[in-house]
Amino acid sequence: MLKLDCKNTDYRIIGEKHGLNLDEEFNNYSERISDIIRSLNQRKDKPGENLQWMNLGYNEETVWYVKEFASMVEGRFENILVLGIGGSALGGLAVTEALLKPYWNFLTDEQRNNLPRIFFLDNIDPDSINGLLEVLDLKKTLVNVITKSGDTAETMSQFMVLKDLMEKTLGDDYRRNIIATTDKKMGILRQLADQEGYKIFYVPDDIGGRFSVFSSIGLVPFALVGLDIDKILQGIKDIDLELKNTDIRQNIAAQYALVHYLMDTQKGKKTTVLMPYSSRLKYIPDWYVQLISESLGKRLNRNGENVNTGLTPLKALGATDQHTQLQLFNEGPNDKVITFIRVNNFDTNLEIPKIFEYTGVGYLGGKTINDLMNAEADSTKVSLADNQRPTLTLSIEKIDEYHIAQLLYMLEVQTAIIGELYNINAFDQPGVEQVKNYIYALMGRAGYDGSVNHLQEIIGV
Ligand code: PA5
Repeated sequence: MLKLDCKNTDYRIIGEKHGLNLDEEFNNYSERISDIIRSLNQRKDKPGENLQWMNLGYNEETVWYVKEFASMVEGRFENILVLGIGGSALGGLAVTEALLKPYWNFLTDEQRNNLPRIFFLDNIDPDSINGLLEVLDLKKTLVNVITKSGDTAETMSQFMVLKDLMEKTLGDDYRRNIIATTDKKMGILRQLADQEGYKIFYVPDDIGGRFSVFSSIGLVPFALVGLDIDKILQGIKDIDLELKNTDIRQNIAAQYALVHYLMDTQKGKKTTVLMPYSSRLKYIPDWYVQLISESLGKRLNRNGENVNTGLTPLKALGATDQHTQLQLFNEGPNDKVITFIRVNNFDTNLEIPKIFEYTGVGYLGGKTINDLMNAEADSTKVSLADNQRPTLTLSIEKIDEYHIAQLLYMLEVQTAIIGELYNINAFDQPGVEQVKNYIYALMGRAGYDGSVNHLQEIIGV
């Protein structure tokens, strides 16, 4: 099971100025935390609370449909192309990068067990879209267009380019190469998919994009590339039981949330760094950046008061970023809480050969790259403690479906708890919607012209 070590945020390790009295704070906040956990679990089925993501670990029906579809199309496609942005892409990207064999798209068919490659187009750079289209054989590509709202300009414009090209390349059969993942009732993609006859997967109500990785948004691409989505669900179910525990001393999501909340409100540390020591986990910080930014960056609290809350998430990768950002983390402003993710067991044990014995690198021979990675993480942790910098360590047993699901789900739950501590709505994103509406206005969408004058005034045209 996922483990959290908060010790290096305590005043006994990093001093009173920057450290917390964890024992005392866990006592002070025990009731508040119990109330929050109880309340989240009581509200989770209530429409409008946007807490349906807490039920995704139990969504056996979706898993069944997704698996059925994956087995129907097995062997038909060489590539899966996911079109989506933000919450409709980041979870998929983070999980497939973690769980598929490294360099998956470069492996031969045999090495991939004849499972498809997977590509995510999560931006609208014309050169990279065009570049990818030159690489993919569209006849052998299944396009999964994912937009919960069904309207997002970036995703729908990519889709329009793809659909046009596919129709030209594949003739009438092109529909068999498209699946849509979107809302059940609203949105343009929903209507188009119905009219065109694409296979559709629905995203349940009351789930924001950044909490949607375990809905059909993530599960469909995962199953298509052969990931075990039953194990994903099992991982969530098992950790969910632990995260329902109302005792903060037994609940790592509550501890993670409280430490960050207190480090912000008592110690002025508003930056949260997520630093996995594993290249396979390198996109998890990207996903975390969205989760934290959109959930906690809010102007108003639940009483309608102006609070401008938020933590600034920063992504880092161990050991690489020891040679880029660590100088700043160690000696720059002491305004960050750094969370390491440690993997207890890598799939590979890679020995460093005993060569160059009589040189300055001879000491490395006979050790393993695994030992070195652990020594790197330990050294960083100690040097940060020496400099009174708070760090947390999350340890996962190994990188597989079960444990990765637990890691992401725990980070979602802690985000919900910290939102409650700030007394904000962690599940809306008015700042994102505002820009979406401005894009619609600038691109001439009917009904959105009200802001055109304002836009022109500020842009200066
Ligand atoms: O978290 C969110 O809701 C957003 O960031 C969305 O994920 C993002 O804007 C994409 O939206 P959609 O899935 O509706 O295309």
